[in-house]
Amino acid sequence: MTLDVIILAAGKGTRMKSRLPKVLHPVAGQPMILYSVEVAQVASHPPVLIIGHGSDAVKEIVGDRARYVMQQEQLGTGHAVMQAQSTLEGHSNAVLVIYGDMPLLRAETLQALYEAQQAHTGPFSMLTNVTDTPRGFGRILRDENGFVTAIVEEAHATVEQRAIREVNLGIYCFDAAWLWAHLKDIPISPKGEYYLTDLVEIAVREGGQINALPMTDSGEVLGVNTRVHLAEAEAEMQRRINERWMLAGVTLIDPSRTVIHAQVQIGQDTVIWPDCYLLGETVIGEACRIGPNSTLLNANLGDRCQVQYSVIEYATLEDDVDVGPFGHLRKGAYLEAGVHMGNFGEVKNSRLRRGVKMGHFGYLGDADVGEDTNIGAGTITANYDGMQKHKTQIGRDVFIGSDTVLVAPVIIGDQARTGAGAVVTRDVDAGNLVLGVPAKPRPKDEHKPQEETQ
Ligand code: UD1
Ligand code: CA
Repeated sequence: MTLDVIILAAGKGTRMKSRLPKVLHPVAGQPMILYSVEVAQVASHPPVLIIGHGSDAVKEIVGDRARYVMQQEQLGTGHAVMQAQSTLEGHSNAVLVIYGDMPLLRAETLQALYEAQQAHTGPFSMLTNVTDTPRGFGRILRDENGFVTAIVEEAHATVEQRAIREVNLGIYCFDAAWLWAHLKDIPISPKGEYYLTDLVEIAVREGGQINALPMTDSGEVLGVNTRVHLAEAEAEMQRRINERWMLAGVTLIDPSRTVIHAQVQIGQDTVIWPDCYLLGETVIGEACRIGPNSTLLNANLGDRCQVQYSVIEYATLEDDVDVGPFGHLRKGAYLEAGVHMGNFGEVKNSRLRRGVKMGHFGYLGDADVGEDTNIGAGTITANYDGMQKHKTQIGRDVFIGSDTVLVAPVIIGDQARTGAGAVVTRDVDAGNLVLGVPAKPRPKDEHKPQEETQ
């Protein structure tokens, strides 16, 4: 038996009150629709995505992970499924229908629904939810034997029917041949729409039985219609992600105060202190200590790194690097193994080679710093002349004195030194000492050892 999945995602999501299509709103840093596309992998073919509102933006995000069918006018869930008929008819024995706005639905649940339908002789199986807050959902009507007889939309329900606690989640697994043969029988509603839910009555009229699998209000069934639901989905997703990492060997000191995006990777024995935001495609190695109060966005960390009260964006730390408190690594910062970056340092688009020490406040931009070089407090690369960015190249074992300004482009040779307060406007040869403003070499007899900043 082969399976295809249809994901309904053409609706506008009016109640989100947003310019962004509803299914592109992120949950744990990932557009909602991608969760539906992921669970659709219970089938071996890419799912068919029914798109309408914001279709170009949706296509751009989902790319070749789905096949697309355009629903020009949104005439209801039944109409949406009809759009996929010419693409899918004759290609599979079973068709799963899910929505693009239920990011918490698990693949195991869909698998169970699919298996239930395989074992079932009737035309389809569906998921329901038993809840004390049925508001907004279609109500499930069952006969005295417990068989589903109809789904009544809340708008059309009687007072009695509204009291029913079992609701339709909108997730179905159909016998494909039956589905394609009966979609055309769906009547047009008074509102001018075609309700997929009307297939229940159509099946029952033929004597077919509907297999309804009730769930109980798990976070999984949460559908997002408003930003209130969006926040609920976010909280539930965070809970799930954090639990997954703890079970994988990561310590979260306070999971309720840790945000980890869906795509993040963390090595075992890493400890995350409270108020950390691990965002985007951040990768953290083993036995690191992150936080408290740190934000890592698309950061790449090796093993045994330590980060405190810092912001690391699009930057790389090899093993045994420590940053902070109050460090800011910006795009393109690359700190090789064992680099020490203390408080109030900012590094952008620069490589700090093995063992570089930058213990205090300072700014390195567009720089390459050689092994074991010491960057004194207050060092600044003046990398921007108001029109263009320029590079600073610093050799190995260099000593940059406190408050040095390196006016780029400039090259400092290996083992060179700059005096405190030097403004370096010209290249410095290897082993030389330069002093003053603008910095100049001094006669050898006047060499005095510099005091290091500790
Ligand atoms: C639908 C069900 C309802 C169920 C609820 C669960 C019907 C008639 N009603 O109601 O029984 O309790 O879902 O959430 O099916 N969509 C399209 N094209 C359309 C219409 C909808 O792609 O023409 C998509 C939407 O983008 C959305 C999904 O289908 O992802 C559900 O549509 P929505 O209008 O929210 O259905 P409900 O009225 O909530
Ligand atoms: Ca809905």
